[in-house]
Amino acid sequence: MLKWISLTFVLLTLGWGQAWAAGNDMPDGKKLYETNCAACHGMDGRVSAAGRQLKPYPARNLRALSEVVSRDELRRIITYGVQGTSMDPKKYALDDLQIDAVIDYIKSFDYSPDLARGKQRYHEVCATCHGVDGRAKTGLGAKNLVYTKLDLAGIVHTMRYGRPGTMMTSKRHQLTNPEISDIAHYVYELRYDASPVRGSKLYERLCFSCHATPAAIRLTGNAASRRSLNSLSDQLLYLRIKHGRHLDRAGNAVARLSDDQLQDIIAYIRQETR
Ligand code: HEC
Ligand code: HEC
Ligand code: HEC
Repeated sequence: MLKWISLTFVLLTLGWGQAWAAGNDMPDGKKLYETNCAACHGMDGRVSAAGRQLKPYPARNLRALSEVVSRDELRRIITYGVQGTSMDPKKYALDDLQIDAVIDYIKSFDYSPDLARGKQRYHEVCATCHGVDGRAKTGLGAKNLVYTKLDLAGIVHTMRYGRPGTMMTSKRHQLTNPEISDIAHYVYELRYDASPVRGSKLYERLCFSCHATPAAIRLTGNAASRRSLNSLSDQLLYLRIKHGRHLDRAGNAVARLSDDQLQDIIAYIRQETR
């Protein structure tokens, strides 16, 4: 009799324990990934053999994507899918909490970018417009990547979606995700870190005699078109210092400044007039 009672007790507690666990624990992202995504994206996120065969576009490597794409973008893609591909909307299969758990799991994937390969692919795919050195002196209206204000995620976003209406088209189907990550890390490394401290020294030496402070600089132009320093983009400010009418008066020393030195001076001007 006692045996029966304790057995029932054990069974009851086991049952309760399970119900409690199922009701309160977060969904298991790894398990959800393996049952809902791995068939195409691969157990490790590096795309399965079947995923590679999909038409019109193969499944994509989620391992190389995880660091460089935001949770919000992942949530949008997983929830709504990608029209015209085998990536169906998952909102009918998974609820919001489950999708979040899958994203947690994808975010745990790591990838080490290969900068040498990034450099090689950059030269093959981007240099015609952005220049071998990333400074975009190609006459094609591409942006200078050495002076871009974009962070890594911004660079990746621009590569993935392009800039509609410009020559910067989406590279998502031209490049794999490992290539996008490699190139983006390479481009990010090209960046010039402008220094207001170096800028202030140059300013003192070359500009101070005529413009006591950056705030004292008056832009040229008639009243109707007059703008303030703050309303000019870095690129326009650069052009006004380097090629403007002011150059006739300021002379050779200013004309001979390198682009990097001008970025330092601009960083200093921004700091003083913000
Ligand atoms: C039937 C195959 C299949 C399954 C299952 C599948 N996907 Fe996809 N997925 C694809 C394909 C194909 C693409 C590429 C779409 C494209 O080219 O834009 C893709 C794209 C994606 C992307 C965007 C990748 C990029 O580089 O833009 C994400 C994120 C993604 N899938 C996540 C998931 C998650 C999470 C699951 C499981 C919940 C899942 N997928 C299940 C086939 C699949
Ligand atoms: C056919 C010419 C062309 C090619 C090839 C090209 N780009 Fe661009 N890219 C442009 C143009 C033009 C813009 C400026 C778009 C605009 O006006 O916003 C641009 C803008 C960008 C920007 C935004 C910079 C900023 O500060 O706003 C990034 C990042 C970028 N490209 C990266 C790349 C990478 C990486 C590649 C190679 C995978 C590449 N581009 C290939 C023409 C090109
Ligand atoms: C020898 C005097 C002199 C020196 C040195 C000088 N400037 Fe000027 N700058 C001027 C004058 C004068 C103007 C007004 C231009 C005009 O009215 O045509 C001007 C205008 C400018 C403008 C506005 C240009 C425009 O197109 O609106 C900027 C920006 C500027 N200077 C920045 C600098 C910086 C930065 C330096 C140092 C690297 C410098 N200047 C050095 C005399 C000088």
